[in-house]
Amino acid sequence: MCGIVGYIGNKSGTGMVLDGLEALEYRGYDSAGIALIDGAKGQVFKQVGRVSGLVKEVSKKKPEARLVMGHTRWATHGGVTVQNAHPQANNRQSIFVVHNGIIENFAEIRAKLKTEGYHFDSQTDTEVIPNLIDFYLKQLPTFEDAFKAALNDVRGAYSIVAVSTKEPETLYAARLSSPLVIGIGKDENFLASDPSAIMEHTKKVIYLEDYDVAVITKSKVSVHNLKQDKQTEPKVELLDYENEQALLGDYPNFMLKEIFEAPATIKTATLGRAQADKNLVKLGGLESVLRQLKFIDRIVIVACGTSYYAGLVGEYLIEELAGIPVEVHLASEFKYRDEPFSRSTVLLAISQSGETADTIAALKKVEDYGVLRLGIVNAVGSTIARMTDAGVYCHAGPEKAVASTKAFIAQVTVLSEIALHLGAESKNNPKLFKALLKELNELPAKAQAVLDTADQIKKVAEKYKDYRDFLFIGRHNAFPSALEGALKLKEISYIHAEGYAAGEMKHGPLAMIDASFPTFAIATDSPLLEKTYSNIQEIRARGGPVVAIATEGNKSIKDLVDDVIYIPKALDELQPVLHATATQLFAYYIAMARGYDVDRPRNLAKSVTVE
Ligand code: G6P
Repeated sequence: MCGIVGYIGNKSGTGMVLDGLEALEYRGYDSAGIALIDGAKGQVFKQVGRVSGLVKEVSKKKPEARLVMGHTRWATHGGVTVQNAHPQANNRQSIFVVHNGIIENFAEIRAKLKTEGYHFDSQTDTEVIPNLIDFYLKQLPTFEDAFKAALNDVRGAYSIVAVSTKEPETLYAARLSSPLVIGIGKDENFLASDPSAIMEHTKKVIYLEDYDVAVITKSKVSVHNLKQDKQTEPKVELLDYENEQALLGDYPNFMLKEIFEAPATIKTATLGRAQADKNLVKLGGLESVLRQLKFIDRIVIVACGTSYYAGLVGEYLIEELAGIPVEVHLASEFKYRDEPFSRSTVLLAISQSGETADTIAALKKVEDYGVLRLGIVNAVGSTIARMTDAGVYCHAGPEKAVASTKAFIAQVTVLSEIALHLGAESKNNPKLFKALLKELNELPAKAQAVLDTADQIKKVAEKYKDYRDFLFIGRHNAFPSALEGALKLKEISYIHAEGYAAGEMKHGPLAMIDASFPTFAIATDSPLLEKTYSNIQEIRARGGPVVAIATEGNKSIKDLVDDVIYIPKALDELQPVLHATATQLFAYYIAMARGYDVDRPRNLAKSVTVE
């Protein structure tokens, strides 16, 4: 949440920083701002709304400076106002700060600073930082000393960039539990929350570690670790991926484009890994931990949002194929549990962005347990990718729309490959092993077949666009699909939607059913289909409209429900991929029919870097 970009060099950095903010807009888009330090003068431009609004305003004035930093905000403390947008400044308007994260003890610091004569104009936690630096600057010899002293006082999570009008050649940056990467150029250096904002300019990067404080000029980067209290030799890494600029092409928005990337996503995630002809699965990312994997007897999956639901699909897959018990936890809950954890347990984190604060915290929690930490991550080089012992990349390419679509498809694909990998060793279920491998290779064509029915799904969606509530139900492998289907609908259409295990309907949700409360039933072929039918009957008996996803060829379901969306016949265990493609399209067309911005739903952000 919140995106940060910085530039120091010989050129004017305004354009670069604004472009970078646009690349980072997925992190937050309530408001945006930039600060320019030119000579001993600071100029700030801030606007509520999208970065494009800020770009328009700035381009009228064409300001130039060799030190520029910017911020795109996802509000935590204080409403969406210009006053609360970043950069925030000290009372004397000589220090400017952009911040991603939360300063938990800001109220305490603010009260202390007030007794020292400081006043506060915003409701943000961030505003205490420039004033605290200002406070220490009166007692300490250098800006760097004052910056470090301020950091020692704050509690919480942050990536911070601070600049001073007295030092127009230097960016000061710090990181704790929130990502920040430095880009190294020739006579210029860059800063950003993630490499996508700077990779057009350089491939050489330094990922800051927790407690790092960096001092960056156009020709030098020095890093001091506050916890170790020593200067560290920053490791310069080469970004090993191409400029994966996500371009819209002919699509009206990124969400539709990304939904339509499902077949390609499965192909990329299985390429060279799922080898049906040789009856084998090869996961290069796990090779370094093969020996340890032989001894595991429990897997704990941690994730948030859509990644959590992918984890639930993985739970069934791994248990069935490898016979290893799996638990799936919401990362935000897991970190506060005090559960027994043996060394033979593996912690598996799933994350599209690799930057979700709660998932990172879950990984940190087990740091000293001596357990293997694995990751299924999409964003190459992200914090989770770097902090896990090993893992498997999704290789789905950049996902721009806030609601996750192709990443879910890739995560389930990778989870089935991990299940196959673990199952191969134990030979727990050779029949399923073979069938799953074969299905993985056929899945892209089947996902394409679902996409080919987009127009039909659109028609159904438009019929249901005005309902206020929706229930999504499914059993066994289709239960996570119901949860994910409901999440997608509420995220982008703002319709109240709940995912429920079909068998649980009679324990509560059935009470809500009437003609104004439709159900989306996932009723594809499975040994439990008849039981799902019974649940649908119970809904119909109470006058509830029903839309169902069914397997091609199932004609009889038409007599039972109001509308049917067909998907191709597929192995039960991998049907969630096809369910997801269909429910993504359903949610998408409802949101479009209601006139919403599907790529940037209200109140949400793509990368949630606060707890
Ligand atoms: C946010 C996004 C979701 C995503 C979740 C977890 O809420 O809007 O789409 O599923 O974070 O993100 P991660 O990057 O860890 O998969």
